[in-house]
Amino acid sequence: MVVTGGTGILGRLYCRKMAEAGASVIVSDLDQKHCTDLAGEIRENTGTHTVGMAVNLTSEDSVKKWAKEIIEMFGVVDVLVNNAAAKSPNFFRPLDQFSLEDWHMVMSVNVTGMFLTVRELGPLMAARGKGSIINVSSIYGVVGPDQRIYEGSWYEEMGGAISTPLVYSASKGAVISMTRYLATYWGPKGIRVNTLTPGGVSSGQNNVFSEKYSYRVPLGRMAEAEEMVGALLFLASDASSYVNGQNLIVDGGWTAW
Ligand SMILES: NC(=O)c1ccc[n+]([C@@H]2O[C@H](COP(=O)([O-])OP(=O)(O)OC[C@H]3O[C@@H](n4cnc5c(N)ncnc54)[C@H](O)[C@@H]3O)[C@@H](O)[C@H]2O)c1
Repeated sequence: MVVTGGTGILGRLYCRKMAEAGASVIVSDLDQKHCTDLAGEIRENTGTHTVGMAVNLTSEDSVKKWAKEIIEMFGVVDVLVNNAAAKSPNFFRPLDQFSLEDWHMVMSVNVTGMFLTVRELGPLMAARGKGSIINVSSIYGVVGPDQRIYEGSWYEEMGGAISTPLVYSASKGAVISMTRYLATYWGPKGIRVNTLTPGGVSSGQNNVFSEKYSYRVPLGRMAEAEEMVGALLFLASDASSYVNGQNLIVDGGWTAW
């Protein structure tokens, strides 16, 4: 199983939990040391053949080299989780100040990077006649953001007030379209392609934001990272053997209003 963005907030949990379920995981993210360290910890705890393999999704050469190494080392890929997403340097800037560089950076990881991973690894899965590709979107690929929740917000990790930029919605909407396309393209070859759409996960946002966000959620709270894992396991496993081209939204009901 390959997880891009594998050392991020959700990615590292996906890697750990999938290995606990018996998968050999290829932990892939920008930084080789982070990938190696996490893979080592997972190997020790689970005894699976888990390895860290860095990739830069903005580089065609890097993705090609990475895919070649995976194919040489494992020969097969059962599950590909396209989970990586870029937070560009000025990600929280308002639309009228949002730079083209930031736009390109986000699109090159969230959309073009996904194109490259499926182009390089999809044919391997198709040749085997079996596989599951899980593309990670966001509620903001499904609905527009409620701009009222951002006033007074703060996110320590990014050192700024929170907002959802247009490019994030554009890229995450594209993820859902790409899933539908790939589901019909590779369905006849036995590959299932689905979207996993998380709602807002609690990860250090300030109380003002958490409260405003939670007010918009029928369940009345943000998600815990662990709450995404069940959906991932479902889409990765044969429990979803007839599920193809779908979007599994795990958002506490945010998009149900
Ligand atoms: N956390 C949430 O609240 C939330 C909500 C909805 C959707 N999502 C989606 O879930 C996924 C994971 O989110 P997260 O919160 O763990 O984010 P995160 O920022 O912690 O993880 C994303 C990872 O992608 C990696 N990445 C960025 N650019 C890359 C590149 N060029 N090549 C390879 N890797 C690269 C980063 O290094 C990072 O580790 C993302 O697709 C995100 O959009 C998250």
